[in-house]
Amino acid sequence: MRLYLPLVIFATLLKDSWQATKIKIDPAHQPSFISSSQVFKVKDQDTVVLPCEVANPGPYVLVWKRGIAVLSAGKTLVSPDPRVILNTDYSLEIKEVGPQDAGDYVCQIGTLEPKEITHTVEILVPPRISTVTSNGRVEVKKGASVRLECKASGNPVPKVTWSRKNNILPGGEQTVTTPTLVLDKVDRHQAGIYQCVASNGVGEDVKQQIFLHVLYPPEISVERPVVYSGEGMEAQLVCIVHGESQPEVLWYRDTMQLDTTELKLMESRGSRHTLVIRKVNKQDFGNYTCVADNQLGKTRKSIQLTGKPRPVKFNSPTTGKSRENYNISWEVESLSPIEEYKLLYRKLPDSAVTSDSQPQPLHHQSSKKPIQRGENKTASYSIGLGTYYSRPIKDRRLEWRDVILPAIPAQPVGMQSMSYVIRGLEPAQQYEARVQARNKFGWSSDSVSFTFKTTDTDESTTDTRHIFTENAIEDVQSVRSYRNNASTQLIFSKIIYLVFNTILLFFCFI
Ligand SMILES: *[C@@H]1O[C@H](CO)[C@@H](O)[C@H](O)[C@H]1NC(C)=O
Ligand SMILES: *[C@@H]1O[C@H](CO)[C@@H](O)[C@H](O)[C@H]1NC(C)=O
Ligand SMILES: *[C@@H]1O[C@H](CO)[C@@H](O)[C@H](O)[C@H]1NC(C)=O
Repeated sequence: MRLYLPLVIFATLLKDSWQATKIKIDPAHQPSFISSSQVFKVKDQDTVVLPCEVANPGPYVLVWKRGIAVLSAGKTLVSPDPRVILNTDYSLEIKEVGPQDAGDYVCQIGTLEPKEITHTVEILVPPRISTVTSNGRVEVKKGASVRLECKASGNPVPKVTWSRKNNILPGGEQTVTTPTLVLDKVDRHQAGIYQCVASNGVGEDVKQQIFLHVLYPPEISVERPVVYSGEGMEAQLVCIVHGESQPEVLWYRDTMQLDTTELKLMESRGSRHTLVIRKVNKQDFGNYTCVADNQLGKTRKSIQLTGKPRPVKFNSPTTGKSRENYNISWEVESLSPIEEYKLLYRKLPDSAVTSDSQPQPLHHQSSKKPIQRGENKTASYSIGLGTYYSRPIKDRRLEWRDVILPAIPAQPVGMQSMSYVIRGLEPAQQYEARVQARNKFGWSSDSVSFTFKTTDTDESTTDTRHIFTENAIEDVQSVRSYRNNASTQLIFSKIIYLVFNTILLFFCFI
């Protein structure tokens, strides 16, 4: 058979050329191609027809070749492939083309100097995704990097586009075109379904999904790190726990694990884990910890249950009504009655607000009576404040002063309020104040720093009688209570001024 084929071709050629020699050839009527070389892009499994139209074919033999293989010669089809047909107009038809048919096809005229045209056949192949990373199920530890890959083939080479189901990509984009999607330092927010789509304009696009699973130790956030409560009340301590497959959560009081009892309940609803203390008693105040663990680690967070007051909130206006006095007021939430307050204040330097000295917590100090301290401040506050000694020249008026105040008795528990008139201030100056409150469980943490200002003009100076009858007496009292105050001189001059005013008033009445 192998020998037979070339033999046939040879015989055919011999026969045709023998005919040619017999015919007189007119050089003016040389054959020429009407068809020109072309590129054919054919979809897989379609049919392609390669033309080879010749003017003045004369007696010459037309041959189709692919590489060195002869497909047809004259009217004889040589190719044994049943999909190949030689049409009567010498066009070559190939049915059900496949990738193996891609390449150059030459149509040649057997003149003395052979002439030829070359058709190129490209087979268009729709996209196909051959492999995806880990067959579409990727598990990765938190903090690691991960490469998600979709290997796609087809002709032309397909584009691979990534998107994420019901979410944007970690980079913030809706879609990204790349064969490999790299995610750096993954965390639980990157977990989910990723989709790759391969397309090349031929046939249908194809898609695949990859499920990205991020493994991480439990993550806990506490709803409130400090829970304020009172005796006999209910307290709820809440930990929000995120983790693989709902980690188990245990509660500890200091180092001791807690069991559910009638008075202490542990509830879990989704990621929310609550320790409910039905009726808080004195011994329940303290440090509680929720602990969650899974195969990747153990996480804990602490919650403080306290009976102390919450930090104080100021509610007086930031600008006072008077030059020398300021009525500072505040409120505080406490579920036990407040016993006393500690008020700290100081003048702020004229220009910027500095925080050169912090008031020391005075939890150990307490007094039932309001005491004005001022003289030996330097001694009591400079202790432990090394910076003080490096600045020996200091305006003493800028130092913190403190007042211990008994609370107004028999206020209802819950929100409790208080006010105090700070006297002997300087006009048009800025002051800073802080307050702590104490109930039977201890002192509240420090309030935020509150800044207030005294006025430049005293509203009450317009009414002289008012000054005489009320303020004068108050001022005389304040001379006594501020005996240590450096402003004694100032007060004396004020009294002289008031006496003078009175005389003036007296004359007015006459
Ligand atoms: C509470 O307990 C935890 C763990 O035992 C500890 O790390 C934390 O410092 C404690 N907090 C307080 C305020 O004692
Ligand atoms: C100070 O302010 C409080 C609250 O605004 C008020 O109840 C109190 O009467 C004021 N005190 C004086 C002496 O004006
Ligand atoms: C002020 O000094 C006196 C005696 O020097 C002392 O008894 C008193 O406790 C001091 N006060 C403060 C607040 O340090």
